[in-house]
Amino acid sequence: MFLKKKKIFEKFKKKAPIICITSYTAPIAKIADKYADIILVGDSVGPVLYGFDSTRKVSIDLILQHAKAVVAQTKNSMVVVDMPYGTYERDARLAYKNAKRIILETGADAVKLEGGENFFNIITFLIKKKINVMGHIGLLPQQHNGKYPVYGRKKNEERKILNDLSSLQKAGVFSIVVECTVESVVKKIMKNSNIPIIGIGATSECDGQVLVAEDLLGLTDFNAKFLKKYSNLGLIISRAFEKFSSDVQKRKYPQKKNYYK
Ligand code: KIV
Repeated sequence: MFLKKKKIFEKFKKKAPIICITSYTAPIAKIADKYADIILVGDSVGPVLYGFDSTRKVSIDLILQHAKAVVAQTKNSMVVVDMPYGTYERDARLAYKNAKRIILETGADAVKLEGGENFFNIITFLIKKKINVMGHIGLLPQQHNGKYPVYGRKKNEERKILNDLSSLQKAGVFSIVVECTVESVVKKIMKNSNIPIIGIGATSECDGQVLVAEDLLGLTDFNAKFLKKYSNLGLIISRAFEKFSSDVQKRKYPQKKNYYK
């Protein structure tokens, strides 16, 4: 962990962009490990892989299972695992018990949790207990229950984001994800931060960028202004299935070369 964190801070000091890609499965993690400084086992696993209508439905056992598969395939990237809804908000000891499970049972390097000011004591306790914590401010999907609005246009929203930023830095998180907010707020975040800020829908001014792998691959139906689809895997898979189906119907597959003698 120490070396991985050092590498990220060296990039941060040199102002070299930090790359973060989500992964929930072994094959995606294996590829992401070649390019990402940070692999995030996000609770977006719920909507993306299981079709849940909200990240709130992700349980600790579910994320543990995916985190284990990801860590096993990762050599270079730092692995950060989301703490699911309901596992950290109520009291510091329960948060620690769950964070410790995530780190010890999966071998991940750090946990991420949503929010700042409201959980200052909890985050401070986790860090005192030597858990590496990544913060998450701006749009907090666990609070929005399946919706992804831009957050930060209203004065009270901007104030909350900046208060969360200040609390998280005071508590000692090593990095923060900023999700779906406006340019003017990002500028203030960047002016007031001294740790790596990783953006998603938060302009190119951040120290790094994160996207959900299946979104950037074009495997989900998710569309947002900030999202660039770097591939169209949905269509590629569809064409492959269509060809397989047609080959089987025409008895073109399997061929002699696919037989066992
Ligand atoms: O769960 C997730 O994938 C996330 C990213 C969108 C940052 O938290």
